[in-house]
Amino acid sequence: MPKPYDYYLEDTLIDQETLQQRIAELGTQISADYANTEDLLLICVLKGGMMFLSDLMRHITVPHHIDFMAVSSYGTNARQSTGAVRIEMDLHTDIAGRNLLIVEDIIDSGHTLNYIIRTLQARQPASMKICTLLSKPERREVDINVDYIGFEIANKFVFGYGLDLDEYYRNLPFIGVVRPGAYAVPDET
Ligand code: IMP
Ligand code: MG
Repeated sequence: MPKPYDYYLEDTLIDQETLQQRIAELGTQISADYANTEDLLLICVLKGGMMFLSDLMRHITVPHHIDFMAVSSYGTNARQSTGAVRIEMDLHTDIAGRNLLIVEDIIDSGHTLNYIIRTLQARQPASMKICTLLSKPERREVDINVDYIGFEIANKFVFGYGLDLDEYYRNLPFIGVVRPGAYAVPDET
């Protein structure tokens, strides 16, 4: 059994209300930007992006479909990928000619998203934009043009609201910072 989440919690970084307010703003912005676009397809990157997708889409007022994909990185740790990424679960949709909005939980080094972008671009969508809830700009190793960012955050390991610690705590309705020493962030050990 995992310990109660507050054992790992140093601090609440983004509380539930702040998260929801920002997500509503993003949904409004996306709805305006896609007002004249047909065939919008939201692509959720599992597992981390699922809370964000489900809240975000409630604020998107233009017609759209959703689909899911899951990726993993090899030879790396839970914190950061090195660029060797592989598709664990592919989309069920033919994306050729569609307008894609990729919905991610967090961009850290950028390697994961860079791989996803390259892979999906090869399938010739009509357009592709990126929406991430969180971004850690200090840690970026690959330059990625992100269209929608919920929050830029400092270089701290966070959990909750889709983001896990050893697959637990994705259900927390807020984003918390991990207490140093409570959890071995693989990168730092
Ligand atoms: P990137 O490829 O380095 O951008 O890493 C992105 C992936 O690393 C995310 O999809 C997360 O799974 C994971 N990740 C990066 N930072 C954190 C964090 O602070 N908490 C939990 N997972 C994280
Ligand atoms: Mg992860």
